[in-house]
Amino acid sequence: SQAFFKPIQNTAPPSSTSRNTKISVIGAGNVGMAIAQTILTQDLVDELALVDAKPDKLRGEMLDLQHAAAFLPRTKILASVDYSATVGSDLCIVTAGARQVAGESRLNLLQRNVALFRDIIPPLVKYSPECILLIVSNPVDVLTYVAWKLSGFPSNRVVGSGTNLDSSRFRFLIADHLDVNAQDVQAYIVGEHGDSSVALWSSISVGGVPILSFLQKQQIPYEKETLEKIHKEVVDSAYEVISLKGYTSWAIGYSAANLARSILRDQRKIHPISVLAKGFYGINSGNDVFLSLPALLGRGGVLGVTDIHLTEEEASRLRESAKAIAEVQNQLGL
Ligand code: NAI
Ligand code: LAC
Repeated sequence: SQAFFKPIQNTAPPSSTSRNTKISVIGAGNVGMAIAQTILTQDLVDELALVDAKPDKLRGEMLDLQHAAAFLPRTKILASVDYSATVGSDLCIVTAGARQVAGESRLNLLQRNVALFRDIIPPLVKYSPECILLIVSNPVDVLTYVAWKLSGFPSNRVVGSGTNLDSSRFRFLIADHLDVNAQDVQAYIVGEHGDSSVALWSSISVGGVPILSFLQKQQIPYEKETLEKIHKEVVDSAYEVISLKGYTSWAIGYSAANLARSILRDQRKIHPISVLAKGFYGINSGNDVFLSLPALLGRGGVLGVTDIHLTEEEASRLRESAKAIAEVQNQLGL
């Protein structure tokens, strides 16, 4: 390529030595590739590395993405079964592992995916000791804890995608109900990414209007069952998509890319993501549990947890969710 253009002589070297930004995605399956392609369209990084255990699949995916070069911002795309390809990553996103078959719960994947994490996390840490780890593989909350333990990283640099996705599903359903834009709906699902997740109804607002008090003021009756039904629809979402198409991918692709942007571009946005929960919202279970809380996310990783007012019922459901995760974690002996 050097021979193709005549270099300009005697130019001053670049004054800044700012280095390239790099994301590695581990696992080039449905989820890893949806994340990779969303990241590419958003012009987030200079370099994207893919790692998987299947070399042919991996090379095929790499070439297929590289062939879109004429339509995308310039990004160097690498792929290898060898973790040395991930060297110097700012962010490592882990999606490798078993996924649910129709009707199977996320927690059922635990033993298989913990075993994989023992092979995946140490080399990531070796090649990128300063990176932020973003865990997506399921069960995501427990695996984020496992990644934290195996990495030896401070907890601010280990996060799980958690209920960032569930909250988007929730906001979609509410927006659809009210016929407004989901981006104007502020609503959080917290707790476990999965069956014991908690909907924070009391803090929902739409365009700055607190929704429950709005309904009360207008004397619009709403039944608790209606609210429960919407939350149940969120919990059932993944099961439904998996029974229809076999896996979920596009929504988690956007969710993870959204988190990657907040981290690498230091957006300091609040996301419901899986963080070390001890000490927040009265969660004091004996062992350290990761679950989703509204967290401020930036270049340093998790910068803090915001203090949303919870009703007594919401707080107690959140503690129940923490207990459910702790029980699973206790079986690990980590
Ligand atoms: P998939 O089966 O399409 O892909 C998994 C990939 O992991 C495969 O390409 C496989 O070769 C690779 N892999 C397996 N062992 C590996 C190892 N030791 N090192 C490197 N790569 C390895 O599965 P899919 O649909 O991509 O799902 C991946 C994970 O993401 C599952 O655990 C699934 O439950 C989870 N998931 C999590 C979501 C969330 O919101 N947190 C949303 C959707 C899926
Ligand atoms: C999801 C995955 C299966 O789409 O956790 O929620």
